[in-house]
Amino acid sequence: MKALYVKTYGCQMNVYDSARMADLLAPLGYAPTDAPDAADMVILNTCHIREKAAEKVYSELGKLRKMKEARGGKMMIAVAGCVAQAEGAEIVRRQGAVDLVVGPQSYHRLPEMIAKAARLGGQVLETDFPPEDKFDALPAQTHAGTAAFLTVQEGCDKFCTFCVVPYTRGGEYSRAPQQILDEARRLVELGAREITLLGQNVNAYAHEDWTLARLLHALARIDGLARLRYTTSHPRDMSDELIAAHRDLPQVMPYLHLPVQSGSDAVLEAMNRQHTADDYRRVVGRVRGARGDLALSSDFIVGFPGESDKDFEDTLALVRDIGYAQAFSFKYSRRPGTPASAARKQVPEDVKAARLEALQSLLTAQQKAFGQSCEGRTLSVLFEKPGRKRGQAVGRSPYLQPVHVEGAGDLIGEIREVKIVEAQPNSLKGVLAQ
Ligand code: 5AD
Ligand code: SF4
Repeated sequence: MKALYVKTYGCQMNVYDSARMADLLAPLGYAPTDAPDAADMVILNTCHIREKAAEKVYSELGKLRKMKEARGGKMMIAVAGCVAQAEGAEIVRRQGAVDLVVGPQSYHRLPEMIAKAARLGGQVLETDFPPEDKFDALPAQTHAGTAAFLTVQEGCDKFCTFCVVPYTRGGEYSRAPQQILDEARRLVELGAREITLLGQNVNAYAHEDWTLARLLHALARIDGLARLRYTTSHPRDMSDELIAAHRDLPQVMPYLHLPVQSGSDAVLEAMNRQHTADDYRRVVGRVRGARGDLALSSDFIVGFPGESDKDFEDTLALVRDIGYAQAFSFKYSRRPGTPASAARKQVPEDVKAARLEALQSLLTAQQKAFGQSCEGRTLSVLFEKPGRKRGQAVGRSPYLQPVHVEGAGDLIGEIREVKIVEAQPNSLKGVLAQ
């Protein structure tokens, strides 16, 4: 047996890809470990979305180089994911200890790459692009958690001016529905009760005459699959049919991550989001019309080039209007090769920091209010794993909040009604209702 250590950065799609890489390497005798210093193979599955995420990779590689030396060179180091795709040649140049560099669309070739590196002893780089090859070449899953991820769509054709995704993950590609349904059935056989469909633009899913709504309807017919979620969505692709699925399918959870990025029309225009703040308000109104208890989440960027105080005020106003259950917010980060990185009117760092703080305090207050609104309610909870205390289990509410319940340790994989007794900053505490 050889030990495999995988470290994942960035989005849920990377989490999915990391699991698939582990599946792929299992037949070669690699078993997962939590200890990088004892690993025969280390994979860093990287994220390029913001500068900070990308820089972490080089510092992590520095540490790995020392571990590799301490093992007399008996460690293969692979860099996968979006930094590999974007900066493959630079990684090879900057860090000689790296053996393999593999992009997100070519990691199915890892076994050949490992053989080649072992044979030739040099660095092997593979950053080709055809995603269809990858999904055809991957072996069936051998493990699934109670709540599993399933990538159905990759890449993006929208070209928001801040974003590297169209360059790192390529154009929009949707997997064949039969392949997705087979994978979903397999995950359910392996114990999954909930599946989150993943895509950089998941609601733009399109394969022949299949849409995301049709896919959700087909998945809802799988016995034992109790919950469906999907992420990440673009406001322009919230079709009537998809909104209706929130009303018609009890399996579709009342939670939607719908990034808006900014509440200012001028900034949205400069970002090439192709919608206004009011368009977004209307879309949210329609989804809430279909599912009254919908909880919303979003991504925000503050300090986009040219963002004025008034533009930022518009973002705060939008947040107050919508009321979010949860959200992510970031300072704008200049990414090489994206149109916005060349803009002249960059916002100073201290202004970005102040705006981020103001936005986050509003969002935190909303999240807290949402948690408190759940106190006294009975929510269905899918138990996913043991808690830190003996006999405790942690699950998720329909609104994706972690819920801690004492005396539920043997309920992993089950859905139970739970009375919420207390809201904590990032989770809920409850007791079994029956
Ligand atoms: N700077 C800051 N945040 C960014 N995001 C994407 N690109 C950038 C960037 N250049 C954020 C967006 C996106 C989330 C995944 O990351 O909010 O929705
Ligand atoms: Fe990061 Fe985007 Fe790549 Fe996900 S797709 S790892 S968020 S750069």
